[in-house]
Amino acid sequence: MFARLPRQVSQRALATRRSISSTCSRRSDALFVHRDTPYNNPKIPFEFDAPNLKRAEEIIKRYPPQYKKAAVIPLLDLGQRQNKGWTSISVMNYVARLLEMPPMRVYEVATFYTMFNREPIGENFVQVCTTTPCALRGSGEILKTVCNELGGIKPGETTKDGKFTVIEVECQGACSNAPMLVIGDDFYEDLTPESTKSILGAFAKGQKPKPGPQSGRQTSENAAGLTTLTTKPYGPGEFCLPEFQ
Ligand code: FES
Repeated sequence: MFARLPRQVSQRALATRRSISSTCSRRSDALFVHRDTPYNNPKIPFEFDAPNLKRAEEIIKRYPPQYKKAAVIPLLDLGQRQNKGWTSISVMNYVARLLEMPPMRVYEVATFYTMFNREPIGENFVQVCTTTPCALRGSGEILKTVCNELGGIKPGETTKDGKFTVIEVECQGACSNAPMLVIGDDFYEDLTPESTKSILGAFAKGQKPKPGPQSGRQTSENAAGLTTLTTKPYGPGEFCLPEFQ
């Protein structure tokens, strides 16, 4: 059905392909394959502690018994939180056993969603958004500041003292407060290099600065201040059309 391309044409096509793929491919933050290591292999025991087991049972109850595998994402998340922020092969195998799923199905989920870290991370997990709206608002400078403040580490690396890991992430859904970064479960928004430094400094001292916009504005209200509804609102019975006055 498909005729073979003439030799010159296929060579030309190959040349075009080569020129497209000549840009270095971007490296992933973690490998998508599992290789047994001394710190990550199926022989390392893992099971939920009592409070997490109770939470897991509550989560599983939300789904019909025949669909309990639907709980795989919240249970992996629970496992990751208990396992110091990363999802080891033992966490995945345990979740598979708990949900009576083939382990491969759990691996598929854990390798697809980037929220699951498949390698150990530092105490504070710093995720800097560098998608377009944040990039337009200076996320490049924020990422550079974070890396410099953390002793010159690069995205994907952990500081020597194990306190911080930094990665670049895609849009976190807080574009109206760009540029932003996430530490743990909290968003730090409206960042400047100065506010970024002071946030990291506080985390380094074991403190937790107030999350949200660092510019002082409330959530995502207009950064330029009020532009509408600037007059005192009328009260009940105060409004009257001119023809009725
Ligand atoms: S682009 Fe950064 S939060 Fe959306």
